[in-house]
Amino acid sequence: MTWRTTVLTLFPEMFPGPLGVSLAGKALASGLWELEARDIRASATDKHRSVDDTPAGGGPGMVLRADVLAAAIDAADAGPDRPRLLMSPRGRPLTQSLVAELAEGPGPLIVCGRFEGVDQRVIEARNLQEVSIGDYVLSGGEIAAMALIDACVRLLPGVMGKQASGEDESFSEGLLEYPQYTRPPEFEGRPIPEILISGDHAKVAGWRRAEAEALTRTRRPDLWAARGGQKGTKSKTEG
Ligand code: ADE
Repeated sequence: MTWRTTVLTLFPEMFPGPLGVSLAGKALASGLWELEARDIRASATDKHRSVDDTPAGGGPGMVLRADVLAAAIDAADAGPDRPRLLMSPRGRPLTQSLVAELAEGPGPLIVCGRFEGVDQRVIEARNLQEVSIGDYVLSGGEIAAMALIDACVRLLPGVMGKQASGEDESFSEGLLEYPQYTRPPEFEGRPIPEILISGDHAKVAGWRRAEAEALTRTRRPDLWAARGGQKGTKSKTEG
């Protein structure tokens, strides 16, 4: 079954946007995944087609109405097996392991929030799982949804082609990626590290591992601690 994602948004014209070019775009065009962007406003019932209202209890901004959003979710008829996500800065952080889990499934229904928020009752009644892409606030969930979809799509079978299977890159082992180099051999007086042109594959692998560990330990002590610190190869800074 083809991986398929349904996005509920007030701005369907934002899609596919960046997902329509490059790796994801080629995969979309060749049918390796499917995207449906649905307009939440199509489920509005009053004559003004209103989708939002002022917050109960007062305060600034507008809140997405539960009845309109519930109708939009029901009309999307995404099927019972699909995860239902709501992009929101207060959600569970998006990680590579959540991405991998979503990429292995049938593909999520994704609700993009706007305004000050979404009526809590629809989050509960339609079992929406809130997901955040980071501790900052975007003006809506669309860009967050695109980030999530892009991260999933590149893991789908056939999408990456000859490129790394994903095993070697940042986060798959809880490590940041080692530095990369290509031609020319010298750039503004900086040579490529000699070991990388030695032809000794074992040494290259050891060097990359050590660099990845050193980078992770210094830049992301949280990731380093989460994987229990050093495993196997010593990093160069440990001598
Ligand atoms: N909507 C607004 N900010 C967001 C964030 N950081 N993550 C997910 N959705 C959002």
